[in-house]
Amino acid sequence: MRTDAKICGMGHSMKRKEDPRFIRGKGNYVDDIQLPGMLYMDIVRSPHAHAKIKKIDTSAALKIPGVLAVIDGPTLEKYKLHWMPTISADTQMVLPIDEVMYVAQEVCAVIATERYIAADGADAVEVEYEPLPVIVDPLKSIAPGAPVIRKDKKDKKDNLAFHWEAGDRAATDAALEKSDVVAEQFVYVPRIHVASMETCGCVADFNSAEGKLTVYMTTQAPHAVRTVFALVAGHVGLSEERIRIVSPDIGGGFGGKVPVYPGYVIAVAASVVIGKPIKWIEDRMENLQADSFARDYHMKVRLGAKKDGTMTALSIKTIADHGYTNASANPMKYPAGLFSICTGAYPLKNAFCEVDAVYTHKPPGGVAYRCSFRVTEAVHAIERVVDVLAQKLKMDPAELRMKNFIAPERFPYKSVLGWEYDSGNYPAALKKAMDIIGYEALRKEQKEKRARGELMGIGVCSFVEIVGAGPSKDFDILGLKMFDSAEIRVHPTGKALARFGTKSQGQGHETTYAQIIAEELGIPASDIQVEEGDTDTAPYGLGTYASRSTPTSGAAASLAARKIRAKAKTLAAHLLECSEADLDWEPGRFFVKGVPGKGKTIQECAFAAYTNMPQGMEPGMEATHYYDPPNLTFPFGSYICAVDIDRGTGEVKVRRFVAIDDCGNIINPMIVQGQIHGGLAQGVGPALYEEIGYDEDGNVFGGSFLDYYVPTSLECPKWETDHTITPSPHHPFGAKGVGESATVGAPPAIANAVVDALSHLGVTHIDIPITPEKVWTLLRKAGAAE
Ligand code: CDP
Repeated sequence: MRTDAKICGMGHSMKRKEDPRFIRGKGNYVDDIQLPGMLYMDIVRSPHAHAKIKKIDTSAALKIPGVLAVIDGPTLEKYKLHWMPTISADTQMVLPIDEVMYVAQEVCAVIATERYIAADGADAVEVEYEPLPVIVDPLKSIAPGAPVIRKDKKDKKDNLAFHWEAGDRAATDAALEKSDVVAEQFVYVPRIHVASMETCGCVADFNSAEGKLTVYMTTQAPHAVRTVFALVAGHVGLSEERIRIVSPDIGGGFGGKVPVYPGYVIAVAASVVIGKPIKWIEDRMENLQADSFARDYHMKVRLGAKKDGTMTALSIKTIADHGYTNASANPMKYPAGLFSICTGAYPLKNAFCEVDAVYTHKPPGGVAYRCSFRVTEAVHAIERVVDVLAQKLKMDPAELRMKNFIAPERFPYKSVLGWEYDSGNYPAALKKAMDIIGYEALRKEQKEKRARGELMGIGVCSFVEIVGAGPSKDFDILGLKMFDSAEIRVHPTGKALARFGTKSQGQGHETTYAQIIAEELGIPASDIQVEEGDTDTAPYGLGTYASRSTPTSGAAASLAARKIRAKAKTLAAHLLECSEADLDWEPGRFFVKGVPGKGKTIQECAFAAYTNMPQGMEPGMEATHYYDPPNLTFPFGSYICAVDIDRGTGEVKVRRFVAIDDCGNIINPMIVQGQIHGGLAQGVGPALYEEIGYDEDGNVFGGSFLDYYVPTSLECPKWETDHTITPSPHHPFGAKGVGESATVGAPPAIANAVVDALSHLGVTHIDIPITPEKVWTLLRKAGAAE
């Protein structure tokens, strides 16, 4: 560490600056906002997955004292606001005119003086539906002759949202043909939900006197939302300089707060029409049933190898269920996200992957749930099939990985599917994980237990991540290039304010950004106030998701601080009456080379910037930097877990879990550890419990916390975390992102462990979530249930 505990630059486990307000209940979330004259909105939702709306009768609702208005599709149609673009440039209904496309779709909205009156009003609206045929299964939807779901799209003759592919199909097929063995596996990564603690909501406040719209909302990307609002509603007078998006404290986002949901737009329209602030806050069931989902990838994976285990080729064919519109939060050039990271940690010479995205009568989505755009699906596919291959070859899965890893000296490494991995040392991470968990001893224990009839499994996953979008030449969302920004102001007394275009949702940005600036300037991190989330004050940025904040805004913070340090140096030379070339820097202070006692602190330089600057120098001490990364960063890790299975109930217990992560240089080790702990829990959920499913009529199960099982601390083991450090060569301070690594790496580790526990019974694969019922059924079939 270059700085002491007072400055608290990089590498210090500084306690989070934001936590005192959270633990004292002093956070300021959207639902805490109260404005004079504020009204409340509740939404009437469809009970059908596909139906014609024959009539909306609002008379009973409007008779309820306090119910002021009902906004429906035809109301919005008058302003041409009944449809909106999705982040993937598809189209989505804000409110329907004649047809609903999924259970829980917004049908109309009731505005009332109180929240519960709005809810009563919503109950009193009578909607007459004519049910229509429903397509739930994406395989049926894509079959020739299936009824067209998006009849609104002129000339649409099928239900394909898009086809995307990467790699050389013919060469990969030929290489698979020539391989000694081919591990082939269907892998389904089901639809899940981010289930953040805070649901979505907003307070839309249109001030008709000023023509200014302020929206307090749960968004991870305030600037992008402002621009999209201006583009969509410019024709009704909402121009960008008159729109202010404020994203206050957010109780978890995980990608689910990137899209613009119909509720936000309806609230804005209602505020513009009625002229009063409108608050809309979803309840938990609305959040789980109607907001964008994640995953839902059906993958056929083939991995070829020589007899000795050398991997030769990988092919993945995917059917992706996108619901009734493609609302995926992916960069435009990558409709299937960064799925082509699927070759993982292995130097495959041949690979091909393709995705057919399909419409069905389900909620739209494809959010990158704690995942850099479909990386979770890609990692699950490769890391599962590597174990299938190991089983086929009767090789130890750790040994098979070690044999194949991209060698550390091959970085920067260009993958056959086009990515340039910046740096990595995969064998080191796996070796460390094996040493900590005591791999050999665990295998011995497993053997002994198996002999006694006990079920124990060991699962390995060595994942490669790809985070930090831009670079802007390849990455944009609806044309908005993906870069990010930082603005720093150092006040005369040497304290600072820093503003960012990103938005923390629990990641601790107020602390870590301050530490980055402290590292560069030597101003104590405790003296640096960090602000995000207000488009009227923060510099333009694309927001926080896909672990991009450290690779982009973190870099911007560092480079903006370096601009300030350069100015401080000129000021120090002026104050010390020497040349800049005669000055050396230590954290927080310039001093004359060879005369350490003669120097000026950064605080003295800041004061001089306002009180005693050299003639002709621009006063003040501020800098802004917009950072367009030259490449993505490629964090990685190796996870090993041990599971025990109850033969009576099929219940899986994760007994030990060792996670070795590498996110390059670490800003705050405690925060990184917290990110890993949370991410691992969000890996246990999908691996063992969580799924949003549908019956054939499109009714949802997993639509409330009664049947959407989010793990608690009881389902999680005591995490054993550690790290290796392989800095990113192109990032200003060698860091990579980390936020999502554990969510990406944990599910295949756990799935591999369960299959390993049952492998002697002939089990080669189980789709997640691996529920007790699935395991018990397998045990019964194998005659191994108790
Ligand atoms: O974009 P998001 O904040 O979700 O992800 P991130 O950039 O991976 O950062 C998550 C948290 O971990 C932030 O508070 C980062 O500053 C911190 N972090 C760190 O301390 N060191 C790293 N090398 C990477 C992230």
